[in-house]
Amino acid sequence: MPNAPESSAHLTGLLWGLSGGFLTYLHRMNAHIQLSSGAGQTSTSDFYFPDQDQDQFDYHLLTGTLTFTGGVRVVAHHGLLNVAFVAPWLVISDRSVRLSVADERGESLPRIELADVSLPTPTCDGTTLMWSGAQTYLLESGLSLFGDAYPASTSLAPITLRIPWRE
Ligand code: HEM
Repeated sequence: MPNAPESSAHLTGLLWGLSGGFLTYLHRMNAHIQLSSGAGQTSTSDFYFPDQDQDQFDYHLLTGTLTFTGGVRVVAHHGLLNVAFVAPWLVISDRSVRLSVADERGESLPRIELADVSLPTPTCDGTTLMWSGAQTYLLESGLSLFGDAYPASTSLAPITLRIPWRE
């Protein structure tokens, strides 16, 4: 296991199990999982994406963009299923919270908006700002990442985010 995020109370990053059904399916299919750029997987099968920089986040308003790095590629069905979840970002505004991933076909391509996120009130221990167990709902624009197997608004796995606190 490349990383053990739960071992440190102050470790920062994003934890996400994609979708419980998808993970069970991948396991059943003996899918190959490739982790890159610091991504990891916890003992509870959540994927871990290290936090990048939070320069585009306003710590007072709690709005802006939270950026994470790392990639998770899943490959099954002899390569016919081959999808990657790369560099997840959370764009938080007054109106919505959106989880997106990079389009791995090219850096200049727009990011893929994957899910609507329902963020709980964050907690802060003076060192780390944390949102725990935020619910996520699949967006139309993210359907293809799950092979169009789920309809829009399907509940995906919740995400937990920790970022370093800044005064
Ligand atoms: C040769 C290609 C493929 C075959 C033969 C195949 C086969 C299947 C089958 C038989 C199921 C339903 C039964 C089960 O859950 O075990 C299923 C479900 C599913 N497939 Fe595929 N699939 C293929 C490609 C893909 C691709 C390319 C993706 C994603 C990019 C994908 C994502 C899914 C998802 C998300 C489910 C639903 C899992 C759940 O929540 O139960 N599949 N697939």
